Amino acid sequence: RRGFLGALAGAAVAAPVGVAAAMAHPTAADAAAASSKNGTPAKFDFHGSHQAGILAPVRRSTALLALDVTAADRAGLQRLFQTITERARFLTSGTAAPEVGISTVPSDSGILGPDGVAGGLTVTVGVGASLFDGRFGLASVKPAKLRTMEDFEDDALDRSICDGDLLIQLEADDADVVTHGVRELLRATRGDMQLRWRRDGFSSPPRPSGTPRNLMGFKDGTSNPLTSDAKAMKELVWTHGGENGEPAWVEGGSYLAVRVIRMLVEFWDRIGLDEQQQIFGRFRGSGAPLTGTKEFDDPHYELDSTGAVIQFNAHIRLANPRTAATANQRMLRRAFNYDAGVDANGNLDQGLVFTAFNQDIERQFVTVQKRLAGEPLVDYISPIGGGYYFALPGVKNASDWFGKGLFA
Ligand code: HEM
Repeated sequence: RRGFLGALAGAAVAAPVGVAAAMAHPTAADAAAASSKNGTPAKFDFHGSHQAGILAPVRRSTALLALDVTAADRAGLQRLFQTITERARFLTSGTAAPEVGISTVPSDSGILGPDGVAGGLTVTVGVGASLFDGRFGLASVKPAKLRTMEDFEDDALDRSICDGDLLIQLEADDADVVTHGVRELLRATRGDMQLRWRRDGFSSPPRPSGTPRNLMGFKDGTSNPLTSDAKAMKELVWTHGGENGEPAWVEGGSYLAVRVIRMLVEFWDRIGLDEQQQIFGRFRGSGAPLTGTKEFDDPHYELDSTGAVIQFNAHIRLANPRTAATANQRMLRRAFNYDAGVDANGNLDQGLVFTAFNQDIERQFVTVQKRLAGEPLVDYISPIGGGYYFALPGVKNASDWFGKGLFA
């Protein structure tokens, strides 16, 4: 591993990944249902017990914003949450932007023209552990498992792209819709929050079918728990007030693990297909496990007890050994790819923004991440940033707002 990284001359290294929907797979059905007949992206309901962006299929374009709150006090933070809510409600509503005269102060960045807020946008809002540090008198209502992300073995974290008081993820099928949303949210909240770091990315269309591919060429997101399975979502994604030491207000929220993972694509592209497939335990072409033939076949570890077909340290076998004891460690992954150009040494700066929603970040993400330590994949990736956040419960109606429960 050191050799690989050394050869990159100590450059920050990043990685990609994809996500999402698939033909015979329920997330594909979700995607189909979410598209209108003429192919324009659908509108997602803003109001509900959960935020719409969590179970929605991964969209083509994503911006992930980590921000620090600069509002002076608790009242300022409350105002900030209300403004974010009001803008997100408007931006996701599918209504046209109001016409603005030249003598009027613009109420909109204008980059979408009269389509103002079109494009099936979702805006997902989370809070980081630092928001509960005492500035706003929120220590007593902190989600029980929320904390600052640690450095794991094999990490090369750049703390300037980690953590943050708030996390806002915008997703849509068109990049200009996402950019417009970013501009509008920042315009309306100027003075009360400040960008800390940001990562933009994309998800591919099915090639040729099934789940989109990450930038290592593998379908990514295949064996996610099904978003249509309410029981699984209740047990794996949503937090419940009063359970596991959680405060009441967290009902319907979810812990979000974000990892910005650079991919050492120059090295990856020089190894053979067989080695790549051994590393993941799946076929690159079809996405099927090496014990199967079709993408959504289950891997048969019970018939492969010596690891002759899918090696014991293959990514999928380590990540989910499919035992009764590890079933509650599954999480909802919604990763997307990034391509950030070139680094100072002339190497491609590409990777994966891994995001996963968890009911309990320790039981799920942290346990799995520790189990992945030293897997063969680590020679080809380098985690450089990210953080842990708590995705707030949904905004239930027109008089509700993000984070209202924090101030009860
Ligand atoms: C599965 C890629 C990082 C957890 C997969 C699959 C691929 C993949 C290709 C198989 C298809 C699928 O079921 O989605 C990658 C890449 C990564 C990365 C390229 C880094 C750049 C992570 C991290 C975690 C993780 C950080 C969690 C700590 C999982 C899990 C599965 C999976 C739980 C499903 C295993 C199963 O249920 O069979 N990943 N992954 N991955 N990955 Fe990753």
